[in-house]
Amino acid sequence: MSEHVVKMIEEEDVDSRIRELAKEIDEEYKGEEVFLVCVLRGAAFFACELAKRITIPVTLDFMQVSSYGSGTRSTGEVKIVKDIDLSMKDKNVIIVEDIVDTGNTLSTLKGFFTQRKAKSVKICSLLDKPERREVNVDIDYVGFTIPDKFVVGYGLDYDQKYRNLPYVGVVEFD
Ligand code: IMP
Ligand code: MG
Repeated sequence: MSEHVVKMIEEEDVDSRIRELAKEIDEEYKGEEVFLVCVLRGAAFFACELAKRITIPVTLDFMQVSSYGSGTRSTGEVKIVKDIDLSMKDKNVIIVEDIVDTGNTLSTLKGFFTQRKAKSVKICSLLDKPERREVNVDIDYVGFTIPDKFVVGYGLDYDQKYRNLPYVGVVEFD
């Protein structure tokens, strides 16, 4: 089966929304520091752009979880493939995700981080697909709320393809 990508959110709009999110974070944590935890691989582009726009002190670390196979359907089970290297004790953690879909990944991660005695744990996701939610999860910062479509670009993939697109697009199957 072949597929093609139709543009959904322009590069300029993604960039300006990220600047706004960075400003919100700057204001909310004024006088403090934040520890951004980027969930690999999808959130890598977003986390870097966001980190560049935040002006308060930032620490950055990466973790990788697996919740998807090679297709577009969640398996529901979340496993840590790579953990962070830095300690999050007493830190203002912001989990940076590409998209919240069923909510399984983030609700598992958030619970896990709270046990590690972070000072606070918030969630920042570039995209939110609320129609698909199975587990309730509070997202503190959302870039864009989108309909139930499988999207790629700006870090998001379909079968490891299209992460490098500078915009967000919808995959359509031919
Ligand atoms: P959740 O656990 O179902 O919320 O899934 C979260 C993860 O699934 C995201 O971090 C993505 O890696 C992946 N995912 C969910 N929806 C999409 C999509 O539309 N495009 C690409 N990846 C997606
Ligand atoms: Mg992801």
